[in-house]
Amino acid sequence: MHGKLNHRRQFGGGRGQALAKAIGMKHGINPTVIDATAGLGRDAFILASLGAQVTMIERSPILTALLKDGLQRLSAEPGLSHISEQQLRLVQANAIEWLQQQANGKTGNRPEVVYLDPMYPHRSKSALVKKEMRALRALVGDDEDAGQLLHAARQCARKRVVVKRPKGAPLVNDSKPSGNVQSKNTRYDIYTRSD
Ligand SMILES: C[S@@+](CC[C@H](N)C(=O)[O-])C[C@H]1O[C@@H](n2cnc3c(N)ncnc32)[C@H](O)[C@@H]1O
Repeated sequence: MHGKLNHRRQFGGGRGQALAKAIGMKHGINPTVIDATAGLGRDAFILASLGAQVTMIERSPILTALLKDGLQRLSAEPGLSHISEQQLRLVQANAIEWLQQQANGKTGNRPEVVYLDPMYPHRSKSALVKKEMRALRALVGDDEDAGQLLHAARQCARKRVVVKRPKGAPLVNDSKPSGNVQSKNTRYDIYTRSD
């Protein structure tokens, strides 16, 4: 497994880290989470290793193949195989359509939390935009339909939708969240369901 990710799994602050707080993983709560923008699966892995049941949705066939390979390699890691076998599931789909189908289905099948980390259209070549992220963008482009994705997610999630944004970035769709959690460079906007 990627050394940096394993380091974060072990020393990243557990349920006290901003991502876990934003998802609502406190007091032994293990929510069902749809990671509708799986990408390289880093956030999904962290949430799954903390105990969440995570379904990863990715529309890029290349990234889906990479994620599948990653899950197989995780299964072969002593002490970590349970994460890929019990906590993580992978679906190749456009999450907008997938979430709409779930929202129209039985309430019991709908996830508690939908997590979104759409590609943020950085215009500068700043060093802050990490190499890994630049490579990912070259592969999948900017996620210009993030607004539609947020709309579909809010129709589907039973408890909350969490949107990851760089600190200082504008809100997706100009939609005002119910709150947010911040870390050094990142802001997690939280949209709780009111009904
Ligand atoms: C910034 S990356 C996510 C990185 C991820 N959070 C991680 O930890 O590795 C965004 C990813 O979301 C995917 N994506 C964006 N919109 C999507 C959609 N509507 N359905 C499925 N995947 C989508 C893109 O293909 C891209 O791989």
